[in-house]
Formats: sequence, structure tokens, C-alpha cells
Amino acid sequence: MDTIYRFRLDEEVMFWASGGFGNAIPAREQLVEEFRNQSPLDTRRFFVIEVQEDAQEEPVVIGQISFRNMVRVAHRATIGMLIGDRRYWGKGYGAAALSEFVKILFARYNLNRIDMDTFVDNKRAIRCYEKVGFTVEGVRRKAMWTMNGFRDQVIMGLLQEEWLDRNGNKTYYL
Ligand SMILES: CC(C)(COP(=O)(O)OP(=O)(O)OC[C@H]1O[C@@H](n2cnc3c(N)ncnc32)[C@H](O)[C@@H]1OP(=O)(O)O)[C@@H](O)C(=O)NCCC(=O)NCCS
Repeated sequence: MDTIYRFRLDEEVMFWASGGFGNAIPAREQLVEEFRNQSPLDTRRFFVIEVQEDAQEEPVVIGQISFRNMVRVAHRATIGMLIGDRRYWGKGYGAAALSEFVKILFARYNLNRIDMDTFVDNKRAIRCYEKVGFTVEGVRRKAMWTMNGFRDQVIMGLLQEEWLDRNGNKTYYL
């Protein structure tokens, strides 16, 4: 919890994660409560991203990844993610974590479609999502407020059939 809370206190991380800083900070106790109250039936869930660079060492929490707005009838949900330790940006960890998370959502949760979104300036995030197979589907004009003003929101999506195509149609375990 301390590590995750520390991510929220990093102005640069929170700018890219949510366009702003102030209103992204819940109290640490609120975060603990939120995580503790998670249930498998929720329409949203949080997970952490860990890295183990050396088999002899303990894994380190470098970020978080979550789904929200899960609509079971439509088999879809929206993913949000952040790598909160900036030393790990741009080294492929984001794409690796997203790829594993997508696999879980398609295989275990039987989703048909996954959404992601960010503001148009966040080229690193857009490129990361594209590497995993997400496609830019549209732009909602000035739909996000950021510390740099209103920004267009890029809407991205990935379908289960596209994921299967990219992974050789291994339906026994995606
Ligand atoms: C977005 C985020 C999760 C991506 O994770 P990551 O580990 O940094 O991403 P990856 O290294 O897997 O991929 C990043 C890609 O973007 C590219 N990239 C970086 N900066 C870029 C820029 N300014 N323009 C274009 N591409 C850029 C990298 O070169 C890399 O592509 P490549 O592998 O083809 O070279 C992470 O950077 C992060 O948490 N950022 C801050 C919070 C955030 O933006 N969250 C998402 C909000 S929706």
C-alpha cells in the first residue's frame, strides 16, 4: 500500500495517468479500504504489476493495472494502468504487463472486447497499447481536462478475435 500510495504522490506519473494531480489523491486509508473491499463480483478490480529482475530477489511492485466498467452482458470492460516508478518507463514492462492482463480478461473473464483511453499527448501510452494489439478507434474532442488544458481523448479497443489471431488461435488457453 505504501508503494502504491507513493505512486499517487508523483506529479509526473499522475499527470500522464489522469491529466492532473490534485483530485487524483485519495487518503492512504481510503485506498486501503477500497482495496480491502474488492470482491470478485465487482465491476472493477485492481492488481499490481511486479518485476522480478533476479530470481534470488523478492519481486518489486512497479505499478498497477485495473479494469472498470465491466459489463457482463456485453462481455466488455475498460483497462487502466500506470507504472508508478518512472525508472521502469519505456523498457517494455508496460506492454508485457498489459499483454498478460489482457490474456486473463479474455480467457478467465471471457471478455469479447476491451477498451482503453488516454489523452492525445500521451504518445508513450498509445504506442504501448498498440504494441499489444489495441487499435485507435476514435477521438472524443476535448473530452479530458489536463493541467495543460482540455485535450482530445483517444479511444482504443481490442477484440478477442484480434487477440486470438495475433496469438495463433490457441483457444485452449488463448
Ligand atoms: C503508459 C505506460 C503504462 C507504458 O508502459 P511502458 O513500460 O513505459 O511502455 P513500453 O516500454 O512497453 O512501451 C512504450 C513505447 O512507447 C514509445 N515511446 C515512448 N515515448 C514516446 C513518445 N514521446 N512518442 C512516441 N513513442 C514513444 C517507446 O519507445 C515504446 O515503444 P517501442 O517499444 O516500440 O520502442 C507507462 O509509461 C506509464 O505508466 N506512464 C505514466 C502513466 C500513464 O501514462 N498511464 C496510462 C494512462 S491511460
